[in-house]
Amino acid sequence: MSDQMERKKRILSGIQPTGTFTLGNYIGAVRNWGSLQEDFECLYMVADLHSLTVRQEPAALRRQTREAAAMLLAAGIDPKVSLLFVQSHVPAHVQLSWILSCNTQFGELSRMTQFKDKSAKHADNVNAGLFTYPALMAADILVYNADLVPVGVDQKQHLELARNVAQRFNNLYSPTFTLPEPYIGKTGAKIMSLQEPDKKMSKSDSNANSFILMTDDADTILRKCKRAVTDSDGVVRAGDGKPGVTNLMSIYSSLTGKTFADIEKEFEGQGYGVFKEAVAGSVIDAFRPIQAEYARILADREYLDGVLKEGAAAASRIADRMVAKVYKKVGLVQL
Ligand code: TYM
Repeated sequence: MSDQMERKKRILSGIQPTGTFTLGNYIGAVRNWGSLQEDFECLYMVADLHSLTVRQEPAALRRQTREAAAMLLAAGIDPKVSLLFVQSHVPAHVQLSWILSCNTQFGELSRMTQFKDKSAKHADNVNAGLFTYPALMAADILVYNADLVPVGVDQKQHLELARNVAQRFNNLYSPTFTLPEPYIGKTGAKIMSLQEPDKKMSKSDSNANSFILMTDDADTILRKCKRAVTDSDGVVRAGDGKPGVTNLMSIYSSLTGKTFADIEKEFEGQGYGVFKEAVAGSVIDAFRPIQAEYARILADREYLDGVLKEGAAAASRIADRMVAKVYKKVGLVQL
């Protein structure tokens, strides 16, 4: 087999350190990251630059960045196998993002639903970074020539833009970037709010009962599940008109591997109370070992910072080469 055929496909993904990760982040993204390490060459990053598109308290951002990295390690990223780093520690992302911004159209960025949502939510701070965010995200991916990007459904549109920009650049100059594919799980790619199940579960939601955090203790998880909005039907079944129950079924299915048919059978003739307790139990069981590891890793600052330093150095070696190549192609003088 040639070297080319033997090369593992490369994966890149990122998560913002804007608060503790939710059950949605876990099921939709983070959970899969660890399991992909065996078959792929993986790079994972804490997207701190992206979070500056919304106002952040500096001390909190610093703390949350380390917490995010510790949580990713606790959730199964093995730094001996994969690279874990902080986005701002690899300047090549920003360097490439400028070039990509100059190859991204105003109209394309205007169509991004996340831009529309966030600019409505933060109407007093519709900054240029919020608008050009997808060009930075494209740079995150393209600077490593990533083949696959594991994300939840909400990031799919940004990924399509990254592909379009890559293709445009390749056509305009010469083949440079790999066109990245989204890698989206079959279940749980969009976990909904427990209080308003037609909305995505989000750590920035003002109602704390709408999300479960990866650091929530067992009592809190049970309480939030019990309070989850369902319907008056009383039957554990997925489908139209039952978004709350369907969402709880997605959570339970993602964490236990049971199909929707299995779940309907398991809770046949039983009320929502029993079902909600089982859902809470599956979340508690998933988080218990992660929470113990998280506390241990977070307490070991030297280890954590060491991992991030090594990750950034190794990532920079790959990314700097790409920036040099791109700068040359677009006509910037190299001395
Ligand atoms: P972020 O920080 O909003 O979310 C991180 C990951 O979690 C997924 N996710 C969900 N999945 C299922 N259900 C939910 N309720 C839910 N909420 C969030 C997201 O889809 C995402 O995969 N722009 C990105 C971060 C980023 C990135 C990148 C990702 C920056 N550069 C390059 C991939 C590649 C973001 O804001 O994710």
